[in-house]
Amino acid sequence: MTTAVDSSPQTPAWAALAKHYETLRDVHLRDLFAQDLSRGQRLTLEAAGIYLDYSKNRITDETLRLLMRLAEEAGLRERIDAMFRGDKINVSERRAVLHVALRAPKSESIIVEGQDVVPAVHAVLDKMAGFSTRVRSGTWRGHTGKRIVNVVNVGIGGSDLGPVMAYEALKHYSDRSMTFRFVSNVDGTDFAEAVRDLDPAETLFVISSKTFTTLETMTNAHTARAWMLAGLGGDETAVAKHFVAVSTNAAEVSKFGIDTANMFEFWDWVGGRYSMDSAIGLSTMIAIGPENFRSMLSGFHSMDVHFRTTPFEKNIPVLMGLLTLWYTDFFDAQTVAVLPYEQYLKRFPAYLQQLTMESNGKHVTLEGAHVDYETGPVYWGEPGTNGQHSFYQLIHQGTRLIPCDFIGFSKSLNPLGRHHDMLMANVFAQAEALAFGKTAEQVKAEGTPDWLVPHRVFEGNRPSNTILADKLTPEVLGKLVALYEHSVFTQGTIWQINSFDQWGVELGKALAQRIIPELEGPSEPALSHDSSTNNLIERYRREKEGA
Ligand code: F6P
Repeated sequence: MTTAVDSSPQTPAWAALAKHYETLRDVHLRDLFAQDLSRGQRLTLEAAGIYLDYSKNRITDETLRLLMRLAEEAGLRERIDAMFRGDKINVSERRAVLHVALRAPKSESIIVEGQDVVPAVHAVLDKMAGFSTRVRSGTWRGHTGKRIVNVVNVGIGGSDLGPVMAYEALKHYSDRSMTFRFVSNVDGTDFAEAVRDLDPAETLFVISSKTFTTLETMTNAHTARAWMLAGLGGDETAVAKHFVAVSTNAAEVSKFGIDTANMFEFWDWVGGRYSMDSAIGLSTMIAIGPENFRSMLSGFHSMDVHFRTTPFEKNIPVLMGLLTLWYTDFFDAQTVAVLPYEQYLKRFPAYLQQLTMESNGKHVTLEGAHVDYETGPVYWGEPGTNGQHSFYQLIHQGTRLIPCDFIGFSKSLNPLGRHHDMLMANVFAQAEALAFGKTAEQVKAEGTPDWLVPHRVFEGNRPSNTILADKLTPEVLGKLVALYEHSVFTQGTIWQINSFDQWGVELGKALAQRIIPELEGPSEPALSHDSSTNNLIERYRREKEGA
């Protein structure tokens, strides 16, 4: 597909892992557990309030030793230092990668192009806190003097997935007298359904876009403006009370008609998918209040410190990143399932899809050479126990190897009777069933007729991590997100790819821009696409006007 020279991380450790895999591929977790009675206690880590049981992975001490060596040989230590130092490690966009600065305490200093960025981060946080408090307390009023009770975040990708995930995750901590909605899709249904029961006089729109040029967001923002003006008698001065912007692009924000005094800034060294803890989190802060938002930031920061300072063998994000790589590159696993047993985390897998796949869905190295190994796996998932009654069948008895991350909490935010014990029993049972399965002998011993035995056998040997925390708080959410951010970084470093650009989304965007006038124009356009695209456009033009 490309003319670039192939590249391979054929370090000695990679080659040793390939050899080692041959000795381990047929070894069953049943045997690994039988050989070491303390495996379940030994292969665990605890840091920053996050407990990881990684004993149900298809690894031995030798695997771990080689994976750690691989990380060393790949220069992970230097790359971590380079990121935290503010080096321009996003080479294809010539940018620093400093989401870690968004949660750095005031006392730290991180220099980008001769300037300490930490004071600017805190200035924006203070501005967000002041604004959030005014909205929450009713001091900030709408154009007609009514209190703002509805907040609609308009954004897409990183300007939507983080805010919506965090709102759902932290709903327990949110102001229940307010309504929060999220509009992302250019499909008009998204906007129409989000505002159908809202009063424009009580509604604040937060237009969230790093670039302030994204087609979907700008289309929805203009529709929101028209909807609000129509509802408030067309007085343009109303915009100032009902629209604020979160962006890096002050010029475009002004052009849209939002006073830059009502703009919350962030910077080009924050990637969209790494921005939920920047001003992009404004809707989160309005929902949960500045104090809770700051405690989320301190959770992020404690995982940053752990990642930066802990030796690799005790480093949770490093270990999780290496395990994913182990299955992706040596076991040929194509996906990772993330299975939170916490209803409030229902949008966490969707959030992780952008974080992981926009970051590591790359086929060339930093130098532009085509890789000859697999990179980013597909991440997916749903909360438990619902998924158990849907796709778990394939994880248990299908032909594919699907490493799973189970996420559970010791305490429920809604303790109701026996619910939480039942929920957690399912976490432990699923991980146990996947690892150990059920042999034909065990199935027969239960009196199963011979013909049915093969259908009821569980091969087991299906790997999983179990991640536990005390309860879902803003701080713990910050830790979990930072854990996956740094796991993605670890993988990207070893694959020698740029986890921080996203050129793959450009082509489709450009083609859509070309097709829009071909759909909207009054006269038949002269089409010069392939025959399929031409045919689809012609058919759509014919049909859209039909009865
Ligand atoms: O889909 C590409 C992308 O650039 C994402 O990386 C980003 O999060 C999203 O679009 C939204 O971009 P913006 O915040 O600039 O509107």
